[in-house]
Amino acid sequence: MTKKILVTSALPYANGSIHLGHLVEYIQTDIWVRFQKMQGHTVHYVCADDTHGTPIMLRAEKEGVTPEALIDAVHKEHSKDFADFLVEFDNYHSTNSSENKELSQTIYKALKANGKIASKTIEQYFDPVKNMFLPDRFIKGECPKCHAKDQYGDSCEVCGATYSPTELINPFSAVSGATPVRKETEHYFFKLSECSDFLREWTRSGTLQAEAANKMTEWLGEAGENKLSDWDISRDAPYFGFEIPDAPGKYFYVWLDAPIGYMASFKNLCAKKGLDFNEYWAKDSKTELYHFIGKDILYFHALFWPATLEYSGYRKPTQIFAHGFLTVNGEKMSKSRGTFITARSYLEHVKNPEYLRYYYAAKLNGTMEDIDLNLEDFVARVNSDLVGKYINIASRCAGFITKFFDGKLNIESMKPLVADALGQGVLIKESYEARNYAKAIRDIMDVADRVNLEIANIAPWVLAKDESKRAELHDICSKAMHYVQTISIYLAPVLPLVSRKIAREFFGMDRDFLWSDLSEVPKSINTYQHIITRLDSKHIDAMVEANKESLQAAAPVTHSQVHHAQAQQPAAADTMVEHISIDDFTKVNLVIAKIVNAEHVEGAEKLLKLTLDIGEAKPRQVFAGIKSAYDPMTLIGRLTVMVANLAPRKMKFGLSEGMVLAASDEQGGPFILSPDNGARPGMRVK
Ligand code: MSP
Ligand code: ZN
Repeated sequence: MTKKILVTSALPYANGSIHLGHLVEYIQTDIWVRFQKMQGHTVHYVCADDTHGTPIMLRAEKEGVTPEALIDAVHKEHSKDFADFLVEFDNYHSTNSSENKELSQTIYKALKANGKIASKTIEQYFDPVKNMFLPDRFIKGECPKCHAKDQYGDSCEVCGATYSPTELINPFSAVSGATPVRKETEHYFFKLSECSDFLREWTRSGTLQAEAANKMTEWLGEAGENKLSDWDISRDAPYFGFEIPDAPGKYFYVWLDAPIGYMASFKNLCAKKGLDFNEYWAKDSKTELYHFIGKDILYFHALFWPATLEYSGYRKPTQIFAHGFLTVNGEKMSKSRGTFITARSYLEHVKNPEYLRYYYAAKLNGTMEDIDLNLEDFVARVNSDLVGKYINIASRCAGFITKFFDGKLNIESMKPLVADALGQGVLIKESYEARNYAKAIRDIMDVADRVNLEIANIAPWVLAKDESKRAELHDICSKAMHYVQTISIYLAPVLPLVSRKIAREFFGMDRDFLWSDLSEVPKSINTYQHIITRLDSKHIDAMVEANKESLQAAAPVTHSQVHHAQAQQPAAADTMVEHISIDDFTKVNLVIAKIVNAEHVEGAEKLLKLTLDIGEAKPRQVFAGIKSAYDPMTLIGRLTVMVANLAPRKMKFGLSEGMVLAASDEQGGPFILSPDNGARPGMRVK
């Protein structure tokens, strides 16, 4: 039975770069989503940037840009980081969107109509110079316990004490340095204190992991007890966010509209894909909804969020999957030790995202325990498992199939292995489903170990020397190839690019693997090309070193980058070109094309062969001179722009039926074009 599933990862704040800690979450979610999609389920994986709040407002101000320009630049940066780690969202939106504004206001009005909103005058710290109320984080002073200077308003980094900002000695505003004053202001509250019974019930309905359910019981107290206080959902201007309806100068606190951002991103996807929003969000929805989050934001997702949904008339999450925090070499990520590593820095040094995906998978077990990235172990593990165990099977046996059997496999040898592949597959599937990827990986590597042992015992390289042993050689090498297929299917959610290469380049398939391919035997192989290379620890050392040096450069989006993104002028804008008329231009039929396949061309130095879907009955074949800049496997599934009415050209390698557009100059390129979200194959570009 196929299911309809909506999956989210927490929305990263738009004021910092994605780092290896974040990636624990996005990689974990992506693996689960890919696994579910491989089972044939309908899955929508949505996320967005979390863009509102005081820190983002102040940061933009400090950098001399508007908050909109800041969050735009960060949106581009985050999108690229995720794509490069093969985290494949179906939609990556922003909480500063029209969908989110509308939904937030609708939900607020519904809560109000249900008597769940109250207003109250409270006293808060106010910066008299900056004329704004100060969040606790923006008040500093002397620690009341150990008297360390310059500590934050909520906790002391020196002695670890927690306190309220009123207890700080000589408090000052971190924004202006002024001494804050106490000032009265009216705030709006969500009456969470009235939601205990509902939340107790909800906690018991299998929505939370055991550890998370225990936390909830701690927060909720015993039945009859009421430990919850009302939730302050408003902030005073100036604030970057959405204004509260009928409350001028009052804004929704960022955590009110952030989870609604999940809905908003999905709504945006619905408009693009013609999906039914209500089917997924109405109170009686039959679809499934899963939120992946870090343990630090459980309170928001397990208390506020279900209560908000319940009392505004929407469905609640099916389950919340909380995970632990990343440590590097056994300690909190640290800038001075060089272990605070951004996604981009990893890519620059290590390059291959699948190493990290594999390592995280090998560590994640579906609980809220922290996970450790031990850099030495990382190198050892990747090399021994991926290169030494998995790919070794292919590299040791494929050559004989090519050399002696013209690439053909012995079907009869492989058939008896199918039952085993399926049987083992059931267990591995259960582990993936339960997000116990560590167990899945252990079981998969056990299979690889068994195969390697058998290969070592039979020693095909010895058989190959004996002309009379061809049948035996064919038998063991065909079996080995079957295991390459089986293991590649098992690992596909974790290693999407490797498994795609195995499917398409090695086994010559015209699509990626599905889980159901476990019941098929491959017929033949193409010549084995190196697919995974060893990770050299010198890249890790260089990465750590680089992150130590760049202490100052830790700020993810710099002033100049934002300006750059905003004010970039085409370099050749003032080059004199002869004018053309609009009619001349419209002669060129530019259309959106989906790259359904991309591959190397035997003997061509610069060309890739692309198969492009432009909404016609038959896809077009186009040769593009972009080999130097793109691995063909990363292009499959992307949208781009092509000239559709260029006269077909006969080339040495075949007919080219159009041209894809790409930018380049002396400094770089070619860069192919991508349309914005929402464009579909065949749409005219004009
Ligand atoms: N903006 C909020 C989430 C709003 S969801 C409606 C937020 N953003 S965050 O950028 O701080 O974190 C995004 C996700 O990454 C969170 O689930 C968080 O737990 C996770 N992680 C951030 N640092 C992490 C580690 N060092 N380790 C593991 N996960 C971490 O919270
Ligand atoms: Zn202290």
